[in-house]
Amino acid sequence: MAEPLIAPSLLAGNHARLAESALRAQSSGADWLHVDIMDGHFVPNLTFGPSTLRAIKNEPEFRMPLDVHLMLDNPWKFATPFLDAGADTLTVHVEPADHLPEFFRLMHERGRRAGLALNPPTPWDKMEPWLELCGLVLCMTVNPGFGGQSFISDVLHKIEAAAATRGRLGLNYLIQVDGGIDIHTARLCREAGADVFVAGTSLYSQADMQQAVQKLRSTVTAKSA
Ligand code: DX5
Ligand code: ZN
Repeated sequence: MAEPLIAPSLLAGNHARLAESALRAQSSGADWLHVDIMDGHFVPNLTFGPSTLRAIKNEPEFRMPLDVHLMLDNPWKFATPFLDAGADTLTVHVEPADHLPEFFRLMHERGRRAGLALNPPTPWDKMEPWLELCGLVLCMTVNPGFGGQSFISDVLHKIEAAAATRGRLGLNYLIQVDGGIDIHTARLCREAGADVFVAGTSLYSQADMQQAVQKLRSTVTAKSA
C-alpha cells in the first residue's frame, strides 16, 4: 500500500481569495491541491475554468501538485486546456464514457497522471476495461456536485474491489476517495485500501488547518490502519 496522500479540496476554500486558500493548503503540509471543475450539467453546480487553474499554478510561492477533478459531460473537450493550465493529475468520470481512449492517449503523451472516477451508484465493473491505463482511480464517496455532504459507506466495498483488482492484476494505480472525508471516514477508507484522501469541509473549516492535516495524516498512517 502506498504512503497516504492528503489533498485539500479548494471548493471549500474562500472563492474570493483562491490564491490565499491554495497557499493555506500548502502551508498546512498537505500533499496535493484538489480542484473540482463542474459544468452545471454533469453535476448541478459550477466552479472554475482553466484560467483559474493557470492563475493558481502561476501564483508565486505555490508549488503543490494540482489534482484536477473534471465533473463534466464532455471532459474530452477540456482535457488539453486543463493540462496546458498546469494540471498534474487529471481525472475524468467513467459515466460519460466518450473519448476515453483519446483521453488516456493524451495523458500518456503528456506524461501526466490519468485518473478515472466513478460515482457511488456506478458499478465497479464499468472501470475494468480501463484500469491498466489508470494512474489513479477515484471512488466518489458522495454524489458529486457539492462540498459538505455525508459519506456514503456503501462505497467501502468498491474501494476494497479497487484494491483487490489492483493486487490481482499487478497494477499500481492510486486509489483516491472524495466526499465526506474526515478522520473517521478516512480511517475506514484506508482500511479498505485507499491512498489519496480528498477533504474539503473537514480541513478548511478548521482554524488550524495544519493541525487538521496532521490529524488526518496520522489517522491514516496509524499502524492498525
Ligand atoms: C464533490 C467534490 C469534492 C468536494 C468534497 O463533488 O468532488 O471534491 O470538494 O468536499 P467535502 O470534503 O466537503 O465533502
Ligand atoms: Zn472532487
